[in-house]
Amino acid sequence: MSQTIAGLILAAGKGTRMKSAMPKCLHAVCGTPMADLVGRALDEAGVYQPILVIGHEGEQLQAALGEKYRYVWQREQLGTGHAVLMAQELLQNHEGPVLVAAGDTPLLSAEVVAELLAYHRAANANCTLATAIVDDPHGYGRIVRKDGAFSHIVEQREATAEEQEIKEVNAALYVFEAADLFRILPTLGKANKQGEYYLTDVLEKLVGEGKYVEAKIFRDASILKGVNDRWQLAEADRELRLRTLKRHAMNGVTLIDPESIYIGLDVSIGPDTVIEPQTYISGDTAIGANCHIGPSTRIKSSEIGDGCYIYFSQIDQAVLHNGVKVGPFSHLRPGTILHKAVKIGNFVEVKKSTLGEGTAVNHLSYIGDATVGVRTNIGAGTITCNYDGFRKHQTTIGDGVFVGSNSTLVAPVTLSNGAIIAAGSVITKDVPENSGAFGRARQETREGWAQQWRQKRNPQS
Ligand code: UD1
Ligand code: CA
Repeated sequence: MSQTIAGLILAAGKGTRMKSAMPKCLHAVCGTPMADLVGRALDEAGVYQPILVIGHEGEQLQAALGEKYRYVWQREQLGTGHAVLMAQELLQNHEGPVLVAAGDTPLLSAEVVAELLAYHRAANANCTLATAIVDDPHGYGRIVRKDGAFSHIVEQREATAEEQEIKEVNAALYVFEAADLFRILPTLGKANKQGEYYLTDVLEKLVGEGKYVEAKIFRDASILKGVNDRWQLAEADRELRLRTLKRHAMNGVTLIDPESIYIGLDVSIGPDTVIEPQTYISGDTAIGANCHIGPSTRIKSSEIGDGCYIYFSQIDQAVLHNGVKVGPFSHLRPGTILHKAVKIGNFVEVKKSTLGEGTAVNHLSYIGDATVGVRTNIGAGTITCNYDGFRKHQTTIGDGVFVGSNSTLVAPVTLSNGAIIAAGSVITKDVPENSGAFGRARQETREGWAQQWRQKRNPQS
């Protein structure tokens, strides 16, 4: 039986306790919005294009997450049951399971979703929900069982003193059959302490109809860690971060002081690479094998080859081939491409430039909008003047060029293969192959002048 599984993520709530202009589910954990983390888990578990129920500041969520999801609006937040009902029209032709998750449970994993779906199918249940047993159940809906079988859920506010002792709680992850769900939802009342339509009441009604509702207990209680305030957000961030770090460690990456290392969810790292403390790697970044990254380095959406050494530096949307060295204190900006064994030393900024194999820019330089050939040496303090105040211009430097220290290359300009630029030159004209260029004032030396000068100033000395 291959049925598509529909999926709903409830993300319409404001999240008052976040004290934010952003809707709660847009807040990021490990750099990814919570609603997207839940969406990814559903997607990976085979749920068909999850639907986000949005409401408070919903435009922000739509703008951030784009067409990956379908959206339905809940203009007024009248409760979780009401939120699900908003998807009725979109799912009117859907037969089969509907998975419902909360958008504020960022630690939910694809494995857990898949396990719940498999369990639902195997048990042939009419509805299956995920529960967990926790030491401190405060705030969660409690699972009430009769003779071991699921009976109903009682919310914290409604729970009697005895019910409050129950340690099994509702994780807000459910599999319903579409027909049951949308038949019962419109019949829900809101005669509870919050005056809201509770999704959890659907379960009680199903039991009342004699349907089979299965509450599956999950051992890993982190699945239900809901985020309601910024401290819980920080805790979720920490937990997901450590999970990610552990995955890399198990894949053969050495992590020095993992507590201080941040690795985003979409980062890949090859074996025998060492990551040093205070290193932040984010976006769609791929790092090869045998690299040494950090300490104190930030890499965003970049491709790093094998055997690279990068420390105390910042790299954004750049491509580094094998054996490149960067640092300390350098900045590679978007569009930088460094071929094999390029060396970028200290205090060097490179933007939208390609540097050929074996080329070195060792100290205090700015290389912007440039193409540099192979085995070229760019001396200390070289600046490509790529901007005339209105437009950007290109600098082209060939193979085996030697640019002397403190040279100013006023673009557009071309230094052809084998050229040598004298230190301190201001280069405004193209330099042909194997030529020397001297763009500086000629030195005049006056013998004995210094002594005469001192005597004139201070005749007693
Ligand atoms: C809910 C469950 C509770 C469970 C807990 C787990 C209900 C009635 N209670 O409680 O049993 O233990 O989750 O975390 O369902 N939302 C909307 N529209 C609304 C209201 C909420 O989209 O009108 C969204 C919120 O944005 C949030 C999610 O639904 O992402 C859960 O809502 P929340 O108010 O946090 O429910 P809890 O009180 O935590
Ligand atoms: Ca919640």
